[in-house]
Amino acid sequence: MESPFKVDIVKGKVALITGGGSGIGFEITKEFGRHGASVAIMGRRKSHLDSAVSSLRSLGIQAIGFVGDVRNNEDATRVVDSTFAHFGRIDILVNAAAGNFLVAAEDLSPNGFKTVMDIDTVGTFRMCHEALKYIKKGGPGREDTSGGGTILNVSATLHYSATWYQIHVSAAKAAIDAMTRSLALEWGTDYDIRVNGIAPGPIDDTPGLSKLDPHEMKTIQSGAPTHQTILGEKWDIAMAALYLASDAGKHINGTILVVDGGDWFNRAPH
Ligand code: HXC
Repeated sequence: MESPFKVDIVKGKVALITGGGSGIGFEITKEFGRHGASVAIMGRRKSHLDSAVSSLRSLGIQAIGFVGDVRNNEDATRVVDSTFAHFGRIDILVNAAAGNFLVAAEDLSPNGFKTVMDIDTVGTFRMCHEALKYIKKGGPGREDTSGGGTILNVSATLHYSATWYQIHVSAAKAAIDAMTRSLALEWGTDYDIRVNGIAPGPIDDTPGLSKLDPHEMKTIQSGAPTHQTILGEKWDIAMAALYLASDAGKHINGTILVVDGGDWFNRAPH
């Protein structure tokens, strides 16, 4: 779909996107690139990264991929430092890496719970922590900029009510939202960094949706759908990310922007 934004709204900015090789992370990466940013993507699977980078470059986007797992301290340090070494600055960090599977709480091992917390929540914190030195006001590469950069954390709406078979992800995403607000407060005040979240509802053509078919989940709950979920597109999330990361969002800090067409209002706990 055609973008409603000017093509240069993030021109000259450098964005690092975890989970940028596929799904929502890739769409955010692509739209940042199409609107003028240089992009670095981090992911666990080299083959995904390689094909994502070639596809970005074929669009004329300055792109590089770094293999790494957000659960690993050394990987996080290496990827953040390599992004800076390659592009000379980091303006935007997007935490889109996530892990997920559908499982009943009684069948989920504590290690399974911890695995998703480690990827989603601790991974997000780790990347924020590593990137701080480059994104903060006055950091290396920011000599031409008067302020700090910005961070976007991708969460979900699962935890606004209760979602079947998603106890681990609901907890992880709720913690991400809490972290977004705390970082917005501390780093907004101290370092002029804006930290915001995006909470997608069910989004078509994503790994998340293919694992969590909402129609199937409703059938599991009640035997019949109580309302018709309208799926969003990855594009919707990318446009929200562009808005928040660009100067259009310069006065927005600590917000979790729900992008779900109003779906979560209909999802009361049973
Ligand atoms: C129960 C499971 C399980 C499953 C893993 N575990 N899969 N338990 N059901 N289907 C448990 C294992 O038994 C183990 O615990 C622990 O989790 C670690 O498993 P590993 O396989 O060793 O972990 P790992 O290889 O690191 O894989 C991570 C993963 C994986 C999260 C488990 O599925 C993954 O990375 N998936 C791809 C990423 C993904 O799905 N992205 C989409 C996110 S969508 P024990 O006790 O046995 O040692 C999203 C949107 C949310 O986030 C909102 C949707 C609406």
